[in-house]
Parts: sequence; C-alpha cells; structure tokens
Amino acid sequence: MPQPAPPIPDFLYGTAWKEDRTPALTEVALRMGFRGIDTANQRRHYFEEGVGQGLAAAYRAGIVTRDDVFLQTKFTYQRGQDHRLPYDPAASLAVQVAQSMASSLEHLATDRIDSYVLHGPASNYDWTDADAEVWEAMRKERDAGRTRLLGVSNVSVGHLEQMASAHAELPAFVQNRCYARLGWDRAVRQFCREHKIVYQGFSLLTANQEVLHHALIASLAASANATPAQVVFSFARRVGILPLTGTSNAWHMKQDLASRDLTLPQEAIQAIESLSG
Ligand SMILES: NC(=O)c1ccc[n+]([C@@H]2O[C@H](COP(=O)([O-])OP(=O)(O)OC[C@H]3O[C@@H](n4cnc5c(N)ncnc54)[C@H](OP(=O)(O)O)[C@@H]3O)[C@@H](O)[C@H]2O)c1
Repeated sequence: MPQPAPPIPDFLYGTAWKEDRTPALTEVALRMGFRGIDTANQRRHYFEEGVGQGLAAAYRAGIVTRDDVFLQTKFTYQRGQDHRLPYDPAASLAVQVAQSMASSLEHLATDRIDSYVLHGPASNYDWTDADAEVWEAMRKERDAGRTRLLGVSNVSVGHLEQMASAHAELPAFVQNRCYARLGWDRAVRQFCREHKIVYQGFSLLTANQEVLHHALIASLAASANATPAQVVFSFARRVGILPLTGTSNAWHMKQDLASRDLTLPQEAIQAIESLSG
C-alpha cells in the first residue's frame, strides 16, 4: 500500500550550521510544531545524520511519526562540499546522485523523502550539461519512489528558462535566498507563479536586516503586537513564499510559527513589497 504523503507544510525548519546541536534542535522544532525539515547531504554546512537522530528521538517520544513530517534534502556538487563527500567523486554525476540519495536515506532512516533538491547549478550563469545529467538522475530517484518531489536551489530566471527548454519537467520547488532589495526575488517568484512551482525563501531575516530595522516594519509590528520577524514571515507567506527559518532558539521557533496567525492589511503587503527594489 502506498504511504500517505505529508502535505507540503507552510513553514520549513532549516538545519544548516547546527553541528552537534542538530539532533536536539530538530527534535525541539518538531516539538514546537514544525512539520517540514530542510537539510542537505553536505557535511560542510549540515549534519544530516544528526537530523536523522533528532527525528528518531521525536518518533520515540511520540511527537510525530514519519508520515507527519515533510523531509527535504539536497544533492550538492563536489565544489560545494569539503572532504566529507557522500559519493565517489570519480563516479559519473548520475552515480553520485544515486549514492548521495542512498546515503541521505540512511542518515534519515527512511526509505523515501518528500523533496530532493539540487543544491545549486554547476554554473552561476547557465544550466549546463552537468545539471541536465544530475536532473535526469534525480528524476530517476523520484520515479523509483525514493523522493516524492524534486526541486532546485540558488537559481536565476535564466537557469529556469534554460531548464524549461532542456527538460520535459520543471521542479516542484525553487529554494532561493530572498533579498528584499531584489524585490524579494521578484523575477524568480513570478516565473514560479507562472509555472506552478512553490517558491521557498531562505535568509528572509539575515539577508534583509535593513527591512527588519525599517520604521514601516516597526510600526506594523507595534500595531499588530508582533515582532519584526513575524511581520516578515507573515508578509512572505502572503506573497506566496514558503518560508524557512533557521533559528536555534525555541522561543523564536514558537514566534515564527505564530506568524501564521498574523494577518497584515493588504496596504501593508504592498508597502513592504515596495520597500524593496
Ligand atoms: N539552499 C541553500 O543554499 C541554503 C542556503 C542557506 C540556508 N538554507 C536553508 O535555510 C535555512 C534557514 O536559513 P536562514 O539563513 O534563513 O536562517 P539562519 O541564518 O539559519 O537563522 C536566522 C538567524 O536569525 C536569527 N533570528 C533572530 N530572531 C529570529 C526569529 N524570530 N526567527 C528566526 N531567526 C531569528 C537567528 O538567531 P537565533 O538562532 O538566536 O534565533 C539566526 O541567527 C537553513 O537552515 C537551511 O536549511 C539553504
């Protein structure tokens, strides 16, 4: 019988840069109410095995079952890795994808994830033959049932347009750093809207310090009895961004999730959009 698929959550908990705290923070995030976890098989910035340990602790404690959690991980090219590679660098890219996926499933102690993301294209400018090989290998992983959905990260509209010409299938997700000064990644978000791709935004706080300290955000926060971070997350969701948070603080986790209950007036959404470039 096919497993019931967890729905795409409305907030993702990001596990980068948590090192030894990864297991405990993953468990706390689930305890606080997150149902989407983002990681990567890139030991340089993520401890994916630690995510698996946190999940196992949450399963044991009865907080969630595997079917309650949306698990997302990534394939990372060698240039984004350190010496701790999850594949044989001498193997073809297609084999590297298969090896990286097998290692992720082992780390996460599952036989299928919900989303598998190409961490970044091989070139900052073009969708290359290497990316095409990796994407086709990722599709094979999906067709074999090891992931439900596919995504790409750190992409421009140019990458996505080239991808659309090269392949029959576009990703279900785009995951990008979302800079307010670039219109909150307006062009990529528009491409995503037009192609029914879910846009995941990260660094919503860290990349937008000027917005967090802007008088408009302060006054919106004060009138809604909310924090500037909550205003940013609420705005993000209203313009169609599926936000990630990477907080290591349980209170911030709670506040971030509570931003789902904050409804900003439409004029505020327009004003925040036009704060940017
Ligand atoms: N695809 C990619 O290439 C890529 C790149 C970067 C990140 N990501 C993913 O995105 C996730 C999130 O990364 P991020 O850059 O958005 O966040 P982050 O840098 O991991 O964390 C946000 C920072 O803001 C601070 N903060 C203060 N108030 C906060 C609040 N209310 N809520 C949340 N943070 C608050 C946090 O401090 P406290 O800990 O004290 O709250 C932390 O220092 C990562 O963990 C990773 O999963 C993906």
